[in-house]
Amino acid sequence: MSQMSIADSQRLHAYMEKAEERSKYFIGYPIAQDFDYSELYPLLRLPLNNVGDPMVESTYDLNSRSLEQEVLQFFAELLRAPENNWWGYVTSGGSEGNLYGLYVARELYPEGIVYYSEATHYSVQKNIQLLNLRSIVIRTQENGEMDYNDLRQMLQMHRDQPVIIMANIGTTMMEAKDDLSKVKQILRDLAVKNYYIHCDAALAGTYSALLDLKPGFDFQEGTDSLSISGHKFIGSPFPCGVVMVKKNYKERIGKAIPYIGTVDTTISGSRNGHSPVFLWYAIKKLGRDGLRQRAQECLDMAAYTEQRLRDIGVKAWRNPAALTVVFPAPSWELRWKWQIATENGHSHIICMPGVSREQIDEFIGDIEAEMKQRVQLSEVSA
Ligand SMILES: Cc1ncc(COP(=O)(O)O)c(C=O)c1O
Repeated sequence: MSQMSIADSQRLHAYMEKAEERSKYFIGYPIAQDFDYSELYPLLRLPLNNVGDPMVESTYDLNSRSLEQEVLQFFAELLRAPENNWWGYVTSGGSEGNLYGLYVARELYPEGIVYYSEATHYSVQKNIQLLNLRSIVIRTQENGEMDYNDLRQMLQMHRDQPVIIMANIGTTMMEAKDDLSKVKQILRDLAVKNYYIHCDAALAGTYSALLDLKPGFDFQEGTDSLSISGHKFIGSPFPCGVVMVKKNYKERIGKAIPYIGTVDTTISGSRNGHSPVFLWYAIKKLGRDGLRQRAQECLDMAAYTEQRLRDIGVKAWRNPAALTVVFPAPSWELRWKWQIATENGHSHIICMPGVSREQIDEFIGDIEAEMKQRVQLSEVSA
């Protein structure tokens, strides 16, 4: 019998209503909201757990490994991983994938220095601290992309140390993409032989690969490992992601653990057994073509948003083929209402699947009203 009091039950329902309401004003974070996983709800009664290696069966058989393997196969093909030389797992999100990539890099190059741009996601700096790695922050250009001249100079000064590059395939605030071909050219020019490249493709990885956007960043373009968030473009009710790595690199990590009857090759012990099923379901239901079309619709929505903002006199802009529209920060009230992230005076809307024209139009109306109010106030005080 439930011990929940009437007050607690009311509190729960009030919370659920609030979450529902806030989901209508959610255009500032890169999270898809257009999913329907209701067919999978019966699975929420089961304690699925993919503890340990996704490729090695476990005595914890109440898992979703077989579907996880198919999700990984999908990403391996999408990211042109070398056949028979890739490995990966479904993570708790992009941050864990970045930690894993840096972990592999450190096992290969314990003396390596990590080079990452100042626009890099905050998780990377924390991961570097956790792994006790040396690092150098590289300046960015105005659009958020790495400043390659600064990278060249820094590398030149530390030519005797192995290099670990953390490249951004869509920075958090401006969705700028670092160009691997330029980075590799610098490494060649400086005759650096010992290097490792990890791509933080948490934000833009899936749709950039689906639409074959430039600059390329996959295994054929030279990445050694790569992290993508699953809840961002594909969408999921809980955070998740995928990390992929060249298999020969990762083989230094992992011990057989009798208790779980499998190999401990991942960062966390217990792993969400539901998220691989949700990702699998979305991939199968939409298919590559459906996912591609969804990505194109997002790009169209981003172009629409940018244009609408410009039409009312807001200095909005986007990086090439980005879903992120950047503009000067509006008032705190509007940022709060629409859950809009802001840094150094820049705000953004990210046109993820589920962001609708109606939402954009309502937001534009809010901004316009705010701009008019500002003009009226300045007229009164003049
Ligand atoms: C560029 C980038 N990297 C990493 C992350 C972290 O991903 P997650 O929230 O899935 O851990 C984010 C999240 O917004 C991001 O934008």
